[in-house]
Amino acid sequence: MGLFAWGCLAIGLQLELGEGHDNGLGSTPQMGYNTWNDFECHGVSAENIRKVADKMVTLGLPALGYEYLIIDDCWAKKRGEDGVLVPDPDAFPQGMKPVADYVHESGLKFGIYTDRGTWTCAGRPGTWGYEVTDAQTFASWDVDYVKTDSCNGPDSLDDRPSSAAIAQYKLFRDALNATGRPIFLALSGWHNWYSPFGKGLANSWRIGYDVRNWRSAWNYAIRVNAFLHDYAGPGGWNDPDMLVGSSDTAVRMTPEQSRTQFSLWSVMTAPLLLGSMLSMTDHDLETYTNREVIAVDQDPLGIQGQIVWENCPLRNRTNIRQKQYYDEIPACQQVWAKPIQDGFAVVLLNLENNSARVNFSISDVCWSSTELQPCDFFEEAAVRDLWSKEDLGRMRFINVTLAADGGSRMFKVVPKAPRKQEVKPGPRASKKRRPSLYPQRVGKGPPLQTDAVHFLQREL
Ligand SMILES: *[C@@H]1O[C@H](CO)[C@@H](O)[C@H](O)[C@H]1NC(C)=O
Ligand SMILES: *[C@@H]1O[C@H](CO)[C@@H](O)[C@H](O)[C@H]1NC(C)=O
Ligand SMILES: *[C@@H]1O[C@H](CO)[C@@H](O)[C@H](O)[C@H]1NC(C)=O
Ligand SMILES: *[C@@H]1O[C@H](CO)[C@@H](O)[C@H](O)[C@H]1NC(C)=O
Ligand SMILES: *[C@@H]1O[C@H](CO)[C@@H](O)[C@H](O)[C@H]1NC(C)=O
Repeated sequence: MGLFAWGCLAIGLQLELGEGHDNGLGSTPQMGYNTWNDFECHGVSAENIRKVADKMVTLGLPALGYEYLIIDDCWAKKRGEDGVLVPDPDAFPQGMKPVADYVHESGLKFGIYTDRGTWTCAGRPGTWGYEVTDAQTFASWDVDYVKTDSCNGPDSLDDRPSSAAIAQYKLFRDALNATGRPIFLALSGWHNWYSPFGKGLANSWRIGYDVRNWRSAWNYAIRVNAFLHDYAGPGGWNDPDMLVGSSDTAVRMTPEQSRTQFSLWSVMTAPLLLGSMLSMTDHDLETYTNREVIAVDQDPLGIQGQIVWENCPLRNRTNIRQKQYYDEIPACQQVWAKPIQDGFAVVLLNLENNSARVNFSISDVCWSSTELQPCDFFEEAAVRDLWSKEDLGRMRFINVTLAADGGSRMFKVVPKAPRKQEVKPGPRASKKRRPSLYPQRVGKGPPLQTDAVHFLQREL
């Protein structure tokens, strides 16, 4: 099926979705913690959930917005004769309700995991055929958030849109709605084709496979999400998976890459779900508690950032779906930008294995592919480094050296003229407008490959 057929299918299914999804939640991307990277299937227990809740409170995370504590796979043991899910009695001897109560008393919200198929990915009972029962069970436990995975159901591994998968998620969406309890719904379907349907189904949807190191962050998240910005907005978000962190566990990045992941996730307006808690390093704690970077992610406009400059090889939606592109990280640089209420957030990213210098022309943060934010021409802007927390003054270029292999810098850019100021029509005003979407680039490398990006936007 070609790109154009995807577009048709998107329209067809969108209509079928009817009223869509509106539970009043997710006006900004969710923030919190998920157990999978820390515990996988081995340590999910009432005791460890209490430890995590205590640690989150001790670190002051709830006050920063990290509100959900989400239990991933492996809490359920079987279905009872009444069809109701039975928690693992060794791990949760008192059942789930007291655990939910403890989490709530800690000032957090309680999240749980299921799967749209017959079995979860770790072989626990799945929700297929029990959508109404499970929704009611979760509501009776005062669950606030459900992550629903995609193993062992129809078309689990299909890299094309599946109406069977969407129908299953729709059933569960409606069953949760019927409980009357507002429950944040997070789909975990691993494929970017969920994105055009996402807002009709849920509050967030995964766009790729699990992110467990820098390479998978590039392959399954960063390069994929670059094409999906038009589908995110208040109420529903692209989910490029959890924050990996740099603690010394099987799932890890370097400290530099871990900070880059946080900066990029904020500019991509992604869910901020911490993946390590009990062994979090001081460096990661400093990263995750940077209020100015969190504010970028949680900006009320809710616009997902995009690439405004790059010298990376041509990528488009055809070749991101091809397996061979999953392997190599290209040796190049990108600049991502996101409009926020009072300016722009900018991340300069180096994918190369050597340090690299980028001299970025600040006015290039403007783009007009989103109707929400027409961007008027400006030449210089006040620049603040969001990691060193220094105001750097007014400038026209950000000329910086980026560390090797996932190094980055993040800035907030406030243009001199108020961005939202109305430009009166007329010859003078129109002269001040940018002549093209992506103006003259300053820096090294070949020109930005805008054609592919715009082609794809049209097709989808
Ligand atoms: C159920 O869906 C309706 C229609 O979208 C919405 O108005 C209502 O808030 C939803 N209720 C819950 C509990 O999600
Ligand atoms: C996508 O990129 C590949 C090269 O990687 C190219 O062959 C193909 O024509 C491109 N497709 C579109 C739609 O631009
Ligand atoms: C950089 O080095 C790492 C580790 O050897 C490797 O996995 C990665 O692909 C390299 N990246 C580039 C852009 O060459
Ligand atoms: C960026 O600044 C450095 C000095 O910090 C300078 O040597 C270099 O020429 C500048 N780059 C460009 C493209 O002007
Ligand atoms: C960046 O490049 C521009 C255009 O080449 C140049 O005028 C400017 O001085 C450079 N910036 C720095 C800090 O070197």
